[in-house]
Amino acid sequence: MRLKTMILASMLVTVAAGTATAEVTFRHALEGMPLDLSVAKDYKNPSGTVKQFLETGDNPYNCDKKAVEEGHSLFLSACSGCHGHEAEGKLGPGLADDYWTYPAGLTDKGLFEIIFGGAQGMMGPQYVNLSMDEMLKIMAFLRSIYKGNPRKIEWKTCDAAGDGGSSGEQKGIIHIKPQS
Ligand code: HEC
Repeated sequence: MRLKTMILASMLVTVAAGTATAEVTFRHALEGMPLDLSVAKDYKNPSGTVKQFLETGDNPYNCDKKAVEEGHSLFLSACSGCHGHEAEGKLGPGLADDYWTYPAGLTDKGLFEIIFGGAQGMMGPQYVNLSMDEMLKIMAFLRSIYKGNPRKIEWKTCDAAGDGGSSGEQKGIIHIKPQS
C-alpha cells in the first residue's frame, strides 16, 4: 500500500472509531426526515453495541440477558408511567403485543426511530433522557416480553439459551426474562 493511501485509510478508521457513524439512515417516525444522531448523549462515545446497531439496524442486545435486565429497570423509570409496568398500555399503547400504530416498530430500526425521535403528543423524543445504549437495552427488554404472534416478528432473535446471539440467525421468541 502506498504511504498516502495508508495515511488516508488510518484516518478513516480513526473517524469511524471516534464517533457513532450511522451506516443506516434513521428517520423520524412521523416526519420522515433523517434523525440527527449527533444530539445523542453517547454520540461521541458510543458503546460497541451502539456502533454495531448503527451499522446494521439490528439490536445486538436482543439476546443479552444482562442487557435485558438493565433495560427492564430503565423501562420502569423512563417508560412505564405511560406504557404500563408490563408495557401493557396505559396513556400510551401497549408495546409487548403485535398491534402497532407505527408498524415500523416491528423492526429494531423502526422501534429505535420512534424512541429516539418521538411520535405524537406525549411521546416525546427520548434522546433527551436516554443514551442510545440505554434505548437499545429497553428495546431488548421489550422484545423479551413480546406476547404477540411470533409470525409477525421482524427483529432478529436468538435461541432459547440466550447464548449472546452471535449468529442471530435463528428465528423464535427469546425466553430470557426471569420467570415471574
Ligand atoms: C409521557 C408519556 C410517555 C412516555 C414517558 C413514553 N411514552 Fe411512548 N408513547 C406515548 C404515547 C401517548 C404514544 C402514542 C403516540 C402516537 O401514537 O404517536 C406513545 C407511543 C410509543 C411507541 C409507538 C407504539 C406503536 O404502537 O406504534 C413506542 C414504541 C413507544 N411509545 C415507546 C416508548 C418507550 C420505549 C419509552 C421510554 C423510553 C416511552 N415510549 C416513553 C407516551 C409516552
